[in-house]
Amino acid sequence: MTPTPSHPHAPGPHGAAPHAHGAQHGHDEHDGHGHAHPHDHGTAAAQDALATVLDLDAELFAGYLTSVTARVAGAAGDGITHVVDLGAGTGTGTFALLERFPGARVTAVDNSPEMLALIAESARAKGLDDRVSTLETDAGAGLGGIEGADLVWASASLHHVDDPAAALAGIRAALRPGGLLAVAEMDGMPHFLPEDAAPGRPGLEERCREALDGLHARQVPHLGADWAALLAGAGLTVEQEHVEPLEVRAPLPPSAGRYAYVVLDRIRGALDGVADPADLAALGVLLDGGPHDVRHRDDLVVRSTRRLWVARRPADEG
Ligand SMILES: C[S@@+](CC[C@H](N)C(=O)[O-])C[C@H]1O[C@@H](n2cnc3c(N)ncnc32)[C@H](O)[C@@H]1O
Repeated sequence: MTPTPSHPHAPGPHGAAPHAHGAQHGHDEHDGHGHAHPHDHGTAAAQDALATVLDLDAELFAGYLTSVTARVAGAAGDGITHVVDLGAGTGTGTFALLERFPGARVTAVDNSPEMLALIAESARAKGLDDRVSTLETDAGAGLGGIEGADLVWASASLHHVDDPAAALAGIRAALRPGGLLAVAEMDGMPHFLPEDAAPGRPGLEERCREALDGLHARQVPHLGADWAALLAGAGLTVEQEHVEPLEVRAPLPPSAGRYAYVVLDRIRGALDGVADPADLAALGVLLDGGPHDVRHRDDLVVRSTRRLWVARRPADEG
Protein backbone atom coordinates (compact mmCIF):
# COMPACT_ATOMS: atom_id res chain seq x y z
CA MET A 1 0.00 0.00 0.00
CA THR A 2 1.11 3.54 -0.60
CA PRO A 3 1.27 6.01 2.27
CA THR A 4 -1.06 8.92 1.73
CA PRO A 5 -0.48 12.55 2.66
CA SER A 6 -1.75 13.47 6.09
CA HIS A 7 -5.32 14.50 6.43
CA PRO A 8 -7.00 15.08 9.75
CA HIS A 9 -10.09 13.12 8.76
CA ALA A 10 -8.36 10.29 6.95
CA PRO A 11 -5.11 9.57 8.73
CA GLY A 12 -4.66 6.10 7.36
CA PRO A 13 -3.66 5.17 3.84
CA HIS A 14 -5.96 3.76 1.24
CA GLY A 15 -6.29 0.09 1.80
CA ALA A 16 -4.95 0.07 5.37
CA ALA A 17 -6.42 -2.58 7.58
CA PRO A 18 -8.91 -0.75 9.78
CA HIS A 19 -8.65 -1.00 13.54
CA ALA A 20 -11.66 -1.03 15.76
CA HIS A 21 -11.47 1.97 18.07
CA GLY A 22 -10.01 0.83 21.33
CA ALA A 23 -8.59 -2.42 20.03
CA GLN A 24 -5.27 -1.24 18.81
CA HIS A 25 -2.94 -2.62 21.45
CA GLY A 26 -2.08 -6.16 22.22
CA HIS A 27 -1.29 -5.63 25.88
CA ASP A 28 -2.09 -3.64 28.96
CA GLU A 29 1.16 -1.91 29.74
CA HIS A 30 2.56 0.41 32.30
CA ASP A 31 6.20 1.30 31.86
CA GLY A 32 5.81 4.98 32.48
CA HIS A 33 6.26 5.91 28.85
CA GLY A 34 2.64 6.10 28.08
CA HIS A 35 1.10 2.81 28.92
CA ALA A 36 -2.50 2.44 29.76
CA HIS A 37 -4.43 1.57 32.83
CA PRO A 38 -5.72 -1.96 32.54
CA HIS A 39 -9.24 -0.74 33.10
CA ASP A 40 -9.43 1.95 30.45
CA HIS A 41 -7.01 0.34 28.05
CA GLY A 42 -7.61 1.50 24.51
CA THR A 43 -10.30 4.00 25.36
CA ALA A 44 -10.25 7.60 24.22
CA ALA A 45 -9.24 8.57 27.78
CA ALA A 46 -6.31 6.16 27.68
CA GLN A 47 -5.22 7.49 24.30
CA ASP A 48 -5.43 11.06 25.60
CA ALA A 49 -3.36 10.16 28.65
CA LEU A 50 -0.81 8.40 26.46
CA ALA A 51 -0.59 11.43 24.18
CA THR A 52 -0.07 13.68 27.21
CA VAL A 53 2.75 11.50 28.56
CA LEU A 54 4.50 11.34 25.19
CA ASP A 55 4.35 15.10 24.69
CA LEU A 56 5.53 15.85 28.23
CA ASP A 57 8.36 13.35 27.90
CA ALA A 58 9.50 15.04 24.70
CA GLU A 59 9.20 18.49 26.32
CA LEU A 60 11.13 17.51 29.43
CA PHE A 61 13.84 15.64 27.54
CA ALA A 62 13.94 17.84 24.44
CA GLY A 63 17.72 18.03 24.68
CA TYR A 64 17.95 14.27 24.40
CA LEU A 65 15.73 14.17 21.33
CA THR A 66 17.98 16.76 19.73
CA SER A 67 21.16 14.90 20.55
CA VAL A 68 19.88 11.44 19.67
CA THR A 69 18.60 12.53 16.27
CA ALA A 70 21.97 14.24 15.67
CA ARG A 71 23.71 10.97 16.48
CA VAL A 72 21.44 9.08 14.07
CA ALA A 73 21.95 11.72 11.37
CA GLY A 74 25.69 11.34 11.74
CA ALA A 75 25.35 7.61 11.07
CA ALA A 76 22.82 8.08 8.26
CA GLY A 77 24.99 10.47 6.25
CA ASP A 78 23.80 12.73 3.44
CA GLY A 79 20.99 12.35 0.96
CA ILE A 80 18.25 11.21 3.35
CA THR A 81 14.92 11.67 1.57
CA HIS A 82 12.54 9.16 3.18
CA VAL A 83 12.32 8.51 6.91
CA VAL A 84 9.82 6.21 8.61
CA ASP A 85 8.76 6.92 12.19
CA LEU A 86 7.56 3.54 13.41
CA GLY A 87 5.09 3.63 16.29
CA ALA A 88 5.04 7.38 15.94
CA GLY A 89 2.63 8.21 18.80
CA THR A 90 1.94 11.94 18.85
CA GLY A 91 4.75 12.59 16.39
CA THR A 92 7.45 14.00 18.63
CA GLY A 93 9.94 11.91 16.64
CA THR A 94 8.30 12.72 13.32
CA PHE A 95 8.72 16.46 13.81
CA ALA A 96 12.22 16.18 15.28
CA LEU A 97 13.23 14.10 12.26
CA LEU A 98 11.71 16.61 9.82
CA GLU A 99 13.84 19.28 11.43
CA ARG A 100 16.94 17.08 11.51
CA PHE A 101 16.56 16.03 7.84
CA PRO A 102 15.32 19.14 6.01
CA GLY A 103 15.36 17.33 2.66
CA ALA A 104 13.29 14.39 3.83
CA ARG A 105 9.66 13.43 4.09
CA VAL A 106 8.52 11.29 7.00
CA THR A 107 6.00 8.47 6.98
CA ALA A 108 4.49 8.17 10.46
CA VAL A 109 3.38 4.59 11.09
CA ASP A 110 1.18 3.54 13.98
CA ASN A 111 -1.60 1.06 14.64
CA SER A 112 -3.57 3.76 16.43
CA PRO A 113 -5.72 5.88 14.13
CA GLU A 114 -6.14 8.38 16.97
CA MET A 115 -2.38 8.94 17.17
CA LEU A 116 -2.11 9.29 13.41
CA ALA A 117 -4.91 11.83 13.42
CA LEU A 118 -3.01 13.89 16.01
CA ILE A 119 0.10 13.82 13.82
CA ALA A 120 -1.83 14.80 10.72
CA GLU A 121 -3.41 17.69 12.62
CA SER A 122 -0.04 18.87 13.98
CA ALA A 123 1.56 18.58 10.54
CA ARG A 124 -1.16 20.75 9.08
CA ALA A 125 -0.89 23.29 11.90
CA LYS A 126 2.87 23.51 11.39
CA GLY A 127 2.53 23.80 7.62
CA LEU A 128 4.42 20.54 7.18
CA ASP A 129 1.67 18.36 5.77
CA ASP A 130 3.40 18.15 2.40
CA ARG A 131 6.29 16.36 4.13
CA VAL A 132 4.30 14.01 6.39
CA SER A 133 2.35 10.91 5.44
CA THR A 134 0.58 8.56 7.80
CA LEU A 135 0.22 4.82 7.57
CA GLU A 136 -2.03 2.81 9.87
CA THR A 137 -0.71 -0.69 10.24
CA ASP A 138 0.51 -3.20 12.79
CA ALA A 139 4.29 -3.11 12.74
CA GLY A 140 4.28 -6.87 13.19
CA ALA A 141 2.65 -7.26 9.78
CA GLY A 142 5.24 -5.39 7.72
CA LEU A 143 5.34 -1.75 6.76
CA GLY A 144 2.54 -1.67 4.24
CA GLY A 145 4.67 -2.01 1.16
CA ILE A 146 7.08 0.80 2.01
CA GLU A 147 10.40 0.18 0.34
CA GLY A 148 13.58 2.12 -0.23
CA ALA A 149 13.41 4.03 3.08
CA ASP A 150 16.70 5.63 4.09
CA LEU A 151 15.97 5.52 7.81
CA VAL A 152 13.47 3.83 10.13
CA TRP A 153 13.19 5.41 13.58
CA ALA A 154 11.45 3.26 16.20
CA SER A 155 11.20 4.98 19.57
CA ALA A 156 9.56 3.16 22.49
CA SER A 157 7.51 1.19 20.00
CA LEU A 158 9.23 -2.05 19.06
CA HIS A 159 8.77 -3.58 22.50
CA HIS A 160 5.03 -3.44 21.87
CA VAL A 161 5.00 -5.85 18.96
CA ASP A 162 4.07 -9.47 19.54
CA ASP A 163 6.87 -10.84 17.38
CA PRO A 164 9.98 -8.61 17.19
CA ALA A 165 11.64 -10.90 14.61
CA ALA A 166 8.67 -10.51 12.26
CA ALA A 167 8.63 -6.74 12.80
CA LEU A 168 12.36 -6.47 12.14
CA ALA A 169 12.00 -8.51 8.95
CA GLY A 170 9.36 -6.02 7.82
CA ILE A 171 11.60 -3.08 8.68
CA ARG A 172 14.51 -4.63 6.84
CA ALA A 173 12.34 -5.05 3.75
CA ALA A 174 11.26 -1.40 3.99
CA LEU A 175 14.84 -0.11 4.10
CA ARG A 176 16.97 0.41 1.04
CA PRO A 177 20.22 -1.57 1.04
CA GLY A 178 22.54 0.51 3.21
CA GLY A 179 19.57 2.08 5.00
CA LEU A 180 19.53 2.56 8.76
CA LEU A 181 17.30 1.46 11.63
CA ALA A 182 17.46 3.39 14.91
CA VAL A 183 15.81 1.69 17.89
CA ALA A 184 15.33 3.95 20.91
CA GLU A 185 14.03 2.48 24.15
CA MET A 186 13.87 3.52 27.78
CA ASP A 187 14.63 1.44 30.85
CA GLY A 188 11.20 1.10 32.41
CA MET A 189 9.52 3.59 34.64
CA PRO A 190 11.36 6.87 35.29
CA HIS A 191 12.33 7.73 38.89
CA PHE A 192 10.77 10.82 40.42
CA LEU A 193 10.43 10.61 44.17
CA PRO A 194 12.65 11.23 47.15
CA GLU A 195 12.72 8.31 49.60
CA ASP A 196 10.34 10.06 52.02
CA ALA A 197 7.95 11.52 49.41
CA ALA A 198 4.84 9.89 50.88
CA PRO A 199 4.36 10.34 54.63
CA GLY A 200 4.85 7.04 56.46
CA ARG A 201 5.61 5.03 53.33
CA PRO A 202 9.38 5.14 52.72
CA GLY A 203 10.53 3.27 49.63
CA LEU A 204 7.15 3.68 47.91
CA GLU A 205 8.57 4.21 44.43
CA GLU A 206 10.88 1.22 44.62
CA ARG A 207 8.02 -1.07 45.61
CA CYS A 208 5.91 0.27 42.74
CA ARG A 209 8.79 -0.40 40.40
CA GLU A 210 9.05 -4.00 41.58
CA ALA A 211 5.32 -4.52 41.15
CA LEU A 212 5.50 -3.05 37.65
CA ASP A 213 8.40 -5.30 36.78
CA GLY A 214 6.21 -8.26 37.64
CA LEU A 215 3.44 -7.00 35.37
CA HIS A 216 5.87 -6.27 32.54
CA ALA A 217 7.33 -9.74 32.64
CA ARG A 218 3.88 -11.12 31.83
CA GLN A 219 2.42 -8.38 29.68
CA VAL A 220 5.29 -6.66 27.84
CA PRO A 221 7.83 -9.45 27.48
CA HIS A 222 9.94 -7.57 24.92
CA LEU A 223 10.44 -4.52 27.14
CA GLY A 224 14.13 -4.57 27.96
CA ALA A 225 14.89 -7.05 25.17
CA ASP A 226 18.40 -7.54 23.86
CA TRP A 227 17.85 -5.52 20.69
CA ALA A 228 21.44 -5.94 19.54
CA ALA A 229 20.90 -9.70 19.28
CA LEU A 230 17.48 -9.31 17.68
CA LEU A 231 18.82 -6.80 15.12
CA ALA A 232 21.71 -9.07 14.22
CA GLY A 233 19.31 -12.01 13.97
CA ALA A 234 17.27 -10.01 11.46
CA GLY A 235 20.29 -9.58 9.20
CA LEU A 236 21.05 -6.00 10.24
CA THR A 237 24.55 -4.88 11.17
CA VAL A 238 24.61 -3.21 14.56
CA GLU A 239 26.88 -0.17 14.33
CA GLN A 240 26.18 1.62 17.60
CA GLU A 241 24.72 0.96 21.01
CA HIS A 242 24.48 4.04 23.18
CA VAL A 243 23.19 4.39 26.74
CA GLU A 244 22.32 7.79 28.15
CA PRO A 245 21.21 8.43 31.72
CA LEU A 246 19.02 11.54 31.87
CA GLU A 247 18.33 13.60 34.97
CA VAL A 248 16.25 16.69 35.62
CA ARG A 249 16.43 18.28 39.08
CA ALA A 250 15.60 21.60 40.74
CA PRO A 251 15.02 24.20 39.54
CA LEU A 252 12.39 22.07 37.84
CA PRO A 253 10.64 23.16 34.65
CA PRO A 254 6.82 23.13 34.96
CA SER A 255 6.65 20.03 32.77
CA ALA A 256 8.49 17.94 35.41
CA GLY A 257 5.64 17.91 37.95
CA ARG A 258 3.02 17.35 35.27
CA TYR A 259 5.05 14.50 33.80
CA ALA A 260 5.44 12.91 37.24
CA TYR A 261 1.72 13.32 37.81
CA VAL A 262 0.56 11.65 34.59
CA VAL A 263 3.06 8.82 34.85
CA LEU A 264 2.35 8.09 38.52
CA ASP A 265 -1.39 8.36 37.98
CA ARG A 266 -1.21 5.76 35.24
CA ILE A 267 0.97 3.57 37.42
CA ARG A 268 -1.54 3.84 40.23
CA GLY A 269 -4.20 2.58 37.81
CA ALA A 270 -1.97 -0.23 36.60
CA LEU A 271 -1.22 -1.38 40.15
CA ASP A 272 -4.82 -1.24 41.32
CA GLY A 273 -5.49 -4.66 42.81
CA VAL A 274 -1.82 -5.59 42.51
CA ALA A 275 0.09 -3.38 44.96
CA ASP A 276 -0.36 -3.10 48.71
CA PRO A 277 -3.48 -0.93 49.29
CA ALA A 278 -1.44 1.24 51.68
CA ASP A 279 1.01 1.97 48.87
CA LEU A 280 -1.85 2.78 46.51
CA ALA A 281 -3.27 5.16 49.09
CA ALA A 282 0.16 6.77 49.51
CA LEU A 283 0.41 7.21 45.74
CA GLY A 284 -3.00 8.85 45.90
CA VAL A 285 -1.66 11.39 48.40
CA LEU A 286 0.96 12.37 45.82
CA LEU A 287 -1.74 12.99 43.24
CA ASP A 288 -4.60 14.56 45.20
CA GLY A 289 -3.80 18.24 44.82
CA GLY A 290 -2.73 18.51 48.47
CA PRO A 291 0.61 19.60 49.96
CA HIS A 292 2.41 16.39 48.91
CA ASP A 293 1.17 16.47 45.31
CA VAL A 294 4.00 15.93 42.82
CA ARG A 295 2.81 18.90 40.76
CA HIS A 296 3.71 21.27 43.62
CA ARG A 297 6.99 19.87 44.86
CA ASP A 298 10.50 21.01 44.11
CA ASP A 299 12.23 17.91 45.49
CA LEU A 300 11.52 15.64 42.54
CA VAL A 301 14.46 14.32 40.58
CA VAL A 302 13.38 12.90 37.23
CA ARG A 303 15.75 10.17 36.14
CA SER A 304 15.38 7.99 33.08
CA THR A 305 17.84 5.89 31.09
CA ARG A 306 17.58 5.91 27.31
CA ARG A 307 19.14 3.34 25.00
CA LEU A 308 19.78 3.60 21.31
CA TRP A 309 20.79 0.93 18.81
CA VAL A 310 21.77 1.92 15.28
CA ALA A 311 21.80 -0.90 12.74
CA ARG A 312 22.22 -0.99 8.99
CA ARG A 313 20.79 -3.14 6.25
CA PRO A 314 23.93 -4.34 4.49
CA ALA A 315 24.54 -2.35 1.31
CA ASP A 316 25.70 -5.30 -0.73
CA GLU A 317 22.49 -7.28 -0.44
CA GLY A 318 19.48 -7.01 -2.68
C1 LIG B 1 5.14 4.54 23.87
S1 LIG B 1 4.49 5.11 22.36
C2 LIG B 1 5.92 5.86 21.60
C3 LIG B 1 5.55 6.96 20.63
C4 LIG B 1 6.71 7.71 20.01
N1 LIG B 1 7.51 6.86 19.17
C5 LIG B 1 7.56 8.38 21.06
O1 LIG B 1 8.69 7.96 21.30
O2 LIG B 1 7.06 9.36 21.66
C6 LIG B 1 4.28 3.63 21.40
C7 LIG B 1 3.51 3.85 20.10
O3 LIG B 1 3.59 2.63 19.33
C8 LIG B 1 2.29 2.35 18.82
N2 LIG B 1 2.22 0.90 18.64
C9 LIG B 1 2.09 -0.05 19.59
N3 LIG B 1 2.07 -1.27 19.05
C10 LIG B 1 2.17 -1.09 17.72
C11 LIG B 1 2.19 -1.99 16.61
N4 LIG B 1 2.10 -3.30 16.79
N5 LIG B 1 2.27 -1.47 15.36
C12 LIG B 1 2.35 -0.12 15.19
N6 LIG B 1 2.35 0.77 16.20
C13 LIG B 1 2.26 0.29 17.45
C14 LIG B 1 1.32 2.89 19.86
O4 LIG B 1 0.06 3.14 19.31
C15 LIG B 1 2.04 4.15 20.31
O5 LIG B 1 1.66 5.26 19.53
